[in-house]
Parts: sequence; C-alpha cells; structure tokens
Amino acid sequence: MTELASAAVPTAAQPGAVGVVREEVVVLDYGGQYSQLIARRIRDCGVFSELLPHTVSLEEVAGRKPCAIVLSGGPASVYAPGAPKLERGLLELGVPVMGICYGMQLLVHELGGRVEQADVGEFGRSNLTITHPGRLLAGMPQEQTCWMSHRDTVFEPPPGFTALASSSASPVAAVEDTERGIYGIQFHPEVVHTPYGQEILTRFLTDIAGCEQTWSAKSIVEDQIERIAAQVGDGRVICGLSGGVDSSVAALLVHRAVGDQLTCVFVDHGLMRKDEGEQVVGAFRDTFGVPLIAVDAEERFLRKLHGVTEPEAKRKAIGEEFIRVFEEEAARLTGSGDDGDVRFLVQGTLYSDVIESGGGTGAATIKSHHNVGGLPEDLKFELVEPLRALFKDEVRAVGAELGLPERLVWRQPFPGPGLAIRVVGGEATKERLDVLREADHILQEEIRRAGLYRELWQSFCVLPDIRTVGVQGDERTYGYVVVVRAVTSDDAMTADWARLPYDLLETIASRMINELREVNRVVLDITSKPPGTIEWE
Ligand code: XMP
Repeated sequence: MTELASAAVPTAAQPGAVGVVREEVVVLDYGGQYSQLIARRIRDCGVFSELLPHTVSLEEVAGRKPCAIVLSGGPASVYAPGAPKLERGLLELGVPVMGICYGMQLLVHELGGRVEQADVGEFGRSNLTITHPGRLLAGMPQEQTCWMSHRDTVFEPPPGFTALASSSASPVAAVEDTERGIYGIQFHPEVVHTPYGQEILTRFLTDIAGCEQTWSAKSIVEDQIERIAAQVGDGRVICGLSGGVDSSVAALLVHRAVGDQLTCVFVDHGLMRKDEGEQVVGAFRDTFGVPLIAVDAEERFLRKLHGVTEPEAKRKAIGEEFIRVFEEEAARLTGSGDDGDVRFLVQGTLYSDVIESGGGTGAATIKSHHNVGGLPEDLKFELVEPLRALFKDEVRAVGAELGLPERLVWRQPFPGPGLAIRVVGGEATKERLDVLREADHILQEEIRRAGLYRELWQSFCVLPDIRTVGVQGDERTYGYVVVVRAVTSDDAMTADWARLPYDLLETIASRMINELREVNRVVLDITSKPPGTIEWE
C-alpha cells in the first residue's frame, strides 16, 4: 500500500475484523500462485470468501460455518514425504468441498484414487473435453479451453467418484461425488484463460452449495457501518487522510457510521501532485462534510529536506516529520475535547496485507511497510480497520458506492514520500519540485485524455539532478531532463514498461518543452521490474 493512513501501526490487529459478514466460503491455501485469486473470483460470484492457510485447525474452519470449502492448488506432490495433507474432518462438515489442481489431487489421493507423475507436464492453455458433464459441468460446451499448471496427474478417480472430463495430458481432469458433495478440477477456473471458469465456480457455489449471492459493495457498506458503530460507540476517531483510495474509503465509511465523531487530518507536505491537496480537501470537507484539519506543512518538510540527497535519508526525514505533525494535531484534538479523548485511529489496511502478513486467521501481525505515515507504537489508539476484509477492487467499488469522485476512486498508487523521491540524485528543492509537479501534471492530463489512466499501474515523471544542452529559438539552452515512466503491473512486485503510443509520447514531450521553460529534454524509461524498480529512488 502506498498511502499515509494505510501504513503500519505495529500494534495489535483489530479482533475479529474479518469474517463477520453473512455466509462465507473458506479457501484453504496449499501454496498455489493463484490462491488469492480464487478468493477474489468467489467474491465476484457475490459470495464472501476468505483465504486461510491449509494448516488452520478444523475447529477454526468449522467455527466459521462456511457454506462451501475450496482447496487451492500448490507446488507439492501429494505422495511426497512432508506434502500438505487433507484434514479428513473437512469432509464431514456437511458442506460441499471442491479441490482445484493440487486440491483435487489431494482429495483423489486421500480417498483412494491414483495420482502419479505424468510423462509430460501440462502448463498453460489446454483443451478440455467433457466426457460426462455430471452436476458440475452440465450444460457447458463439450470442448473448451482451460488453463493448466501441473506435472502430477490423476489417472483414476477414487471409488464412488465419476470422471467428468479429460485433457490431452490429463486422463482425469474433473471429478465429482455428488453423494458426498466432493468435487475436483485439475485446471484453474480462477484465471481468465479458462473461459468457463467463473461459470464453473458459480455452479459450484450456488447450484451445488446453495450459497447466497449477497456480497456486494452495498452490503459491504451496510455491514461496515454497523460494525464500526458498534466498535466505536460514542468515542472519538482520528484518521490520517492521504488522498489515496484506501484512506479515503476508510474515512468515508467511518464518517457514515459515526458522523462528526470522526476528524480527518490531511498533512499536506508539499510533495503532492498538482492540485491534489485542494481535491482532497474539496471532496471531504465541502462535498461530504467530513470534519477535516488540513495542515499546510510544506515549509516544515522542505526545511527537513534541505541538503538531503540520499534516498533513504529523504524517506526517513519525511517519515519522521509526518509523525511529528500528526502527533501534534492528534494532541491538539485530544486536548480540545469536551467529549473526551480521541481513542480510535482509522487504518486503511487491506485484505491482501492481512494475507501477506500471514494473518488470514485474524492474527495480530500487520506487515511492516516502510511507508511514510507509519505511525509509531506509542500513539495509543485502538485501530478501526474497515477495509481489512477487502481486496483493492472491492475498495474501489465501495468508494464508488459511497459517491467518492472518480479521480479518487481510481487514483494510481502514489508513494508516501511523494515527489521528493522523484527528484533523483539531488536535493528536493521547491524549485525542482515545482518543475516536476508541472511536468507530472502535463503527463497526467495527456494520459487521461488518451484514456489510458486506469490501464496503467502508475504513470509519473522523474527529474534527475542533471542539465543537458539544447537549442530553442536559435538559442542554446541548458535545462532539466524529464523522464517519463509508465508501467503496467498487478501488484507492483513486478512491472512492465508501458508501450505508450508514439503520438502520445510526442504530444507529452512537446508540451513539456514548450510549456516549461526549465525543461529542454524528455526521455522515456523502458526498464521493467525486475531489473529496475518502479520508482527511481
Ligand atoms: P518500487 O520502486 O520498489 O515500488 O518498485 C513499488 C511500489 O511501492 C511504491 N513505493 C512507495 N510507497 N512509500 C510508499 O508509500 C515509499 O517509500 C515507497 N517507495 C516505493 C511505488 O510507488 C510502487 O507503487
């Protein structure tokens, strides 16, 4: 996450924050690369789902009263020593179980079928032939494509099971035992390369498991408002607003729940993009009527950045100053309270952070980000984390449901230290920040105009601390170089440089050079991650 309010507070997590909502599907994670995606696709079917480690206890699973259980894929071989095993009690809970890839092999192996390594593996797109549609695949085309990723293969289903389909390298690619409510598919229904994947999941969840499709942005909003109100009571709440989608949606939910018991603090460190501060204040204070303290702290931050050139030193300086400003505002607020101290702090922690920190079971660890805005432990607040059960796309849907402006709902990630880490190799002075801000503004305008803003994970400018020679209007110039950086990515762990159209690049470059006197050269960064990082510092 890249937002101030979503940064880590390494204290206890909110108890019972996940899993309070209606019916749920438990997805047990056997280490597959698509496990998170399974949970997301199930939610796309309108059913809440949670990813839990496969080591979770049977009691924990049973206690959630799931309407279905899904076993994910994973890298192990079911017959290898030490391979994750099946907790047989899962099959006795009286709810349908579906295994995907390793999950299917595990069911088959444990229940007496035959799983062995095949001569050839099956990776990527494959052709599926339905031989006996059964309950799971009824009414679907006999021939379809699917996405496979396995070396071990099911050769024989267990007694009592029917083989439903095969593929070129998998004699048994889907099985079911309708009596016991156990289903298995070798391919991955959760990826887009399996065109009928979503339909198969929906079939399993609704027709077979009878789950109700009640999970929607509207239901999330209703549930969260109820939960927040119950947690906070008549206490006072503070929220650090960064302008990013996570902190914005979290703040709006809390405001809906407890109204003016919430005060938002927006620290404008002067390292934001053009007009961003005004947009945040405008949306929250003016449109939504959220009590908001906007702190203009540009000078303070610039003073701290004076003479600082090393990237981590910049981050540290900004981080420390952020905490100081936030603490001052929190203290002021608390000191002023007729109605008591501020006891709660809103955090925009997302479900992916909870999973990454191994906290799918609601454990107390929160991933420690190096984000600016990571508030220190001794700020003694109880956390309110209304997004703790949500994936990023659900947060956006909730934002839209709450009426958050499109610009905030779809904002690309923006690092906490802001433009300071995009003035590279030198000091982030006001003059350089202003040049960068204007260049960035032109880039954003043109990217939006070309309709590419949402497609890109991030698009931004970098201003290296160098000058180059140019010629303009018969005059020699000596000006800044602006680097254009645009990447596509799913999660920022890897990224590909975006193939922006040449015409668009030309418009961007000529606008920057024509409109910004200080700039005489524009270059394009064509480095992917790895080997590069997204940011330059
Ligand atoms: P890199 O440059 O490591 O960035 O490929 C990955 C993602 O993290 C963001 N980023 C940051 N976010 N504070 C933040 O809040 C930081 O110090 C920071 N550094 C990088 C970056 O924009 C990208 O989305």
